[in-house]
Amino acid sequence: MQRANTKTYFLKTFGCQMNVYDSERMAEALARDGYSQTDDVGNADLVILNTCHIREKAAEKVYSDLGRIRDIKDTRKRDGKETVIAVAGCVAQAEGSEITRRQPAVDLVIGPQSYHRLPELIVRAETKSERIVETEFPGDEKFTAMKAPRRISSPSAFLTVQEGCDKFCTFCVVPYTRGAEFSRPVAKLEAEARELAAAGAKELVLLGQNVNAYHGDAPSGRAVGLAELIRRLADIDGIERIRYMTSHPRDMSDDLIAAHAEVPQLMPFLHLPVQSGSDRMLRAMNRKHRAAEYIDLIARVRAARPDIALSSDFIVGFPGETEEDAEETIALVKAVGFAQAFSFKYSPRPGTPAASLEVQVPEDVKTGRLHRLQALLDEQQGAFNAKTLGSTMPVLFERPGRNPGEFIGRSPYLQLVHAVGDGNFTGRTANVAVTETRRVSLSGVIPAA
Ligand code: SAH
Ligand code: SF4
Ligand code: F3S
Repeated sequence: MQRANTKTYFLKTFGCQMNVYDSERMAEALARDGYSQTDDVGNADLVILNTCHIREKAAEKVYSDLGRIRDIKDTRKRDGKETVIAVAGCVAQAEGSEITRRQPAVDLVIGPQSYHRLPELIVRAETKSERIVETEFPGDEKFTAMKAPRRISSPSAFLTVQEGCDKFCTFCVVPYTRGAEFSRPVAKLEAEARELAAAGAKELVLLGQNVNAYHGDAPSGRAVGLAELIRRLADIDGIERIRYMTSHPRDMSDDLIAAHAEVPQLMPFLHLPVQSGSDRMLRAMNRKHRAAEYIDLIARVRAARPDIALSSDFIVGFPGETEEDAEETIALVKAVGFAQAFSFKYSPRPGTPAASLEVQVPEDVKTGRLHRLQALLDEQQGAFNAKTLGSTMPVLFERPGRNPGEFIGRSPYLQLVHAVGDGNFTGRTANVAVTETRRVSLSGVIPAA
């Protein structure tokens, strides 16, 4: 039942895809309550920032945004309009009431495990004008309680299958902001995937902070791993493609590697963060794998799926990192050959073990190492894309491009593709003959059927 409501909300999402998924679920719940979305903060009765705590820059951005939103709230107040400001996501979880101390205009702080309580808490914030901080980790499953129907905004739909992390890498806030590892049951995921497929989704991107550690209960009561979940979801009518992220090298099972060879819907792309090529650094990071193990794992993945596109995350300038350590990372990158990657300067995060290490690396040294690594990764990305020149690949088109007859989508290898064709290809898969490649994208034509 839809509540009578003429209110509008503005929602801004920071951070990873899990936050994007959570924002979609919040938007669906708000729509069910009769809210409509606006892109104009000045027009919003409710402003939600879904925040990220992973690096200092991401977290600080939230406070500068909040300053601007407070000014808007003040202006609206002079016009007789109320504005509820809510901070959700990982900054909410990590900083709790510190947020309302730093920015008293905030009405509601809500952690990622409490979103099912959002509608009720908004009403409380509106009526009682008290500040609410809700950062419990409830035992029940948050999204079971949010019954709004799934919608899609793209033929590629996110589906969170696992949350939280038990790995405790020494640099990382995720185990504190998202809590312990939890896998959603298979039946619930199948039901949600069917809903997404019925809404027009062609691709499922299975999400988890540690997605390949997935071990959800099957209807039989037995726990199944990610490989079996993928096999089951691949059976759903309409689902043409499946991807998953983010994985940890320690949880890359033989079964999952085999799925890459055996399940046609499973796309030839693997995002497998390694962080560093130095065993000394990997140990200090508590990564639980060595560089040689990672390289061996990649060889096994490539044996199963020779054309697979590999992606990773890197941290440069972790405390104590020397030139030799940085060189070992460069050597690992050369040994593997990545199709794309993300690399970051180490950012000390409050409450994590690495933040209190004494041997922090100076900022300019971090910057130099980051540039060197990124130059190599950029070169590899360009080379990977160049290899697809002249080939024909199925592309799932997500939206029209800027030029007439142009559509934008993704190749099986997650490359961004601009293609021209005769017809409307949004939401559909079509073959593309690749005519031009650049570092970050490809161009091509869709041959007439
Ligand atoms: N769950 C994923 C992603 C975690 S966050 C995983 O386990 O890989 C995404 C990336 O952010 C990490 O892979 C890491 O490279 C980076 N990251 C995490 N904490 C960081 C920090 N304190 N400083 C810099 N980069 C960080
Ligand atoms: Fe963070 Fe490590 Fe867990 Fe990834 S595996 S979320 S980097 S603690
Ligand atoms: Fe950021 Fe939280 Fe995701 S810290 S990366 S939004 S899990």
